[in-house]
Amino acid sequence: MPLLDKIERNRLPAHIAIIMDGNGRWAKKRGMERSEGHKEGVNAIKKVVEAALKASVQYLTLYAFSTENWGRPTEEVQQLMDLMIYAISRETPDLKKNGVKICCIGDMDRLPKYAATAMEECIQETAQGTGLTLVLALSYSSKWELVAAARKITADVVKGVLQEGDINEETFASYLTTCDIPDPDLLIRTGGEQRISNFLLWQLAYAEFYFTDTFWPDFGENDLYAAIIDYQGRERRYGKTSDQIERVQ
Ligand code: FPP
Repeated sequence: MPLLDKIERNRLPAHIAIIMDGNGRWAKKRGMERSEGHKEGVNAIKKVVEAALKASVQYLTLYAFSTENWGRPTEEVQQLMDLMIYAISRETPDLKKNGVKICCIGDMDRLPKYAATAMEECIQETAQGTGLTLVLALSYSSKWELVAAARKITADVVKGVLQEGDINEETFASYLTTCDIPDPDLLIRTGGEQRISNFLLWQLAYAEFYFTDTFWPDFGENDLYAAIIDYQGRERRYGKTSDQIERVQ
C-alpha cells in the first residue's frame, strides 16, 4: 500500500513545521559547493509542498533563513537570498494554481529591498489561496519575535490600548508574527541534529518532534508521509493523563 494511503485522514497534523537542515553536508559529501546543496534543497521544497497538498495538510512552515544565518559568509547569504527569490517567483504561478497561499514570518526589514519587494509580490499574488498555507520563516528567530512582541505590548500598555491585567497567553500570542496561524502539531528536523535552533519556541510548546538523519535535499514525498504516520502513532496528552485523554475520545 502506498504510504499516502496509510495516513489516517481524520487525524492529520493541521500544521507541520520543518527545520530544513543538511544542504551543506549533502553537497560536501558529493564534492560540490554548498550552493549546490541549497539548489537541491529548493527541489526538495517543491516535492514536500506537493506532498503536503496531497495529504491535505493545511499549514506548512519552512525555516528558510534564520536571524543567525545573516552571520554566514557574505557570498553564501547573497546566494541564498537570490536563490530564494528566484525560486519563489518562478513557482508562484504553479503555487497559485494549486491553491497555495504564501506568507512570511520574520524580520522582513532586514531583507534587501529587492528581496522584500519580490516576496511581497508573491504574498499578494497568492493571497486568495484556500488550500495549503505555506509559511516561509525568513530572517526569523524566535527570540527576535518574542522581544518584538514584548516591545509592541509595552507600547500598547503605555498608549493605554492594552491594560496590564489583560495580558494573558491569548493576548501575548496575538502579538507574535504567527498570530493568524495555529501552532504546529508536528516539527520535523532533517540532517541528524536534534535541536530547535531558535525556531518557534512559543508555538512548539505542545508539538510532536520528529528527527531524521536524511539531509534536506534527499527528503521527499514519502519521507513526509512517514513523519505524518509516526506522528499519528503518538499520544498527545497536553499535560493530562492517558486515562483522561481516552475518556474524551
Ligand atoms: C540548512 O542547511 C539550510 C539553510 C540554512 C537554507 C535552507 C534554504 C533553502 C533550501 C532555500 C529556500 C528556498 C525557498 C524558496 C524558501 P545548512 O546549510 O545549514 O546545511 P549543513 O548543516 O549541512 O551545513
